[in-house]
Amino acid sequence: MASSSSSSRTTILLLMAAAAASLLCLAQAEESPLKQDFYSETCPGVEELVRKELKKIFADDSTIRAGLLRLHFHDCFVRGCDASLMLDSHNGTAEKHADPNLTVRGYEVIEALKLKVEAECPLVVSCADLMTIAARDAVKFSDGPDYPVETGRRDGNISMAADAKRDLPPADGNVTVLTKYFAAKNLTMKDLVVLSGAHTLGVAHCPSFSGRVHNHTGAGDADPALDAGYLAKLNATCGPANVASVVPLDAATTDKFDLGYYQSVRGRKGLLGSDDALNHDSLMGAYVELMNNASSLDTFFQDFAVSMVKMGRVGVLTGEEGVIRESCTIFVD
Ligand code: HEM
Repeated sequence: MASSSSSSRTTILLLMAAAAASLLCLAQAEESPLKQDFYSETCPGVEELVRKELKKIFADDSTIRAGLLRLHFHDCFVRGCDASLMLDSHNGTAEKHADPNLTVRGYEVIEALKLKVEAECPLVVSCADLMTIAARDAVKFSDGPDYPVETGRRDGNISMAADAKRDLPPADGNVTVLTKYFAAKNLTMKDLVVLSGAHTLGVAHCPSFSGRVHNHTGAGDADPALDAGYLAKLNATCGPANVASVVPLDAATTDKFDLGYYQSVRGRKGLLGSDDALNHDSLMGAYVELMNNASSLDTFFQDFAVSMVKMGRVGVLTGEEGVIRESCTIFVD
């Protein structure tokens, strides 16, 4: 009896997921000016070199893997994947100075990779490609999928904090808001629910979710969507004025790329408003539900790889466009 009801539940979930998949427009095959192994002749072995360096870096600090994954996302959503996020400015007007980027980390890792790669192949490999490769390797070294990345991006020369403020999705965004931010980058609701799975890694600072804990409607209340025990823990870590403490986005397995995020979201322990938002849409909710089955890990890995490659194509500069910088942080004409 128990097994027949669980198998019919699985069947229903699979049907819901199939419906969700078709309605959410599963990643369509698209023409891309990028290609795998773009540097096979101009800088052979660059991906192996990057991986070797990252292995050492991650051995010292495994938490930086989460930083590198987020770094790539924040780069791609603002003027495309062109490493404009890496650029320094003297007057605080570059992307990295915008509020949503103040907690982004991993810049020094990309710069260290660039130094190594420049020693082998000067002025050949773009910073934007290094960010893409590093994000993939961050996932791989967290026990996630190891997928082929496309390369051939060039670096942008414009970096403006105002663009970052405008184009990065807000932590308290609901489904309608988040969908709009993703659609603006040609990414679907399916990409949204899949890429949100990146929150299986890393942490958030208290201000990113304190509204949910201390002031949900402006009346000093908590978000009723939060699990009561989880809310108590968040309260204990994050007083209303605490800006420095961090909380894992996936409490159970913070450093492991797995389905833990979707279990948290379904269990009303999604940390950010944007995480909980997935529960409030029937199609994305069906995906979350499906990912609460251990046998869905391969599906998640495949979906994540597809959506990451798609995100890696957003607004890219190729061919004669843009530049190849010697240092990722220093502007060149
Ligand atoms: C759906 C819209 C998204 C929103 C609103 C969002 C927002 C956030 C926020 C507020 C944080 C915590 C920042 C802090 O307080 O330190 C965070 C962390 C993170 N995000 Fe997202 N994010 C979204 C999508 C993504 C995507 C698409 C990726 C990557 C593919 C990603 C990867 C990460 C990672 C890995 C962390 C942890 C970073 C660390 O530990 O340093 N996020 N995100």
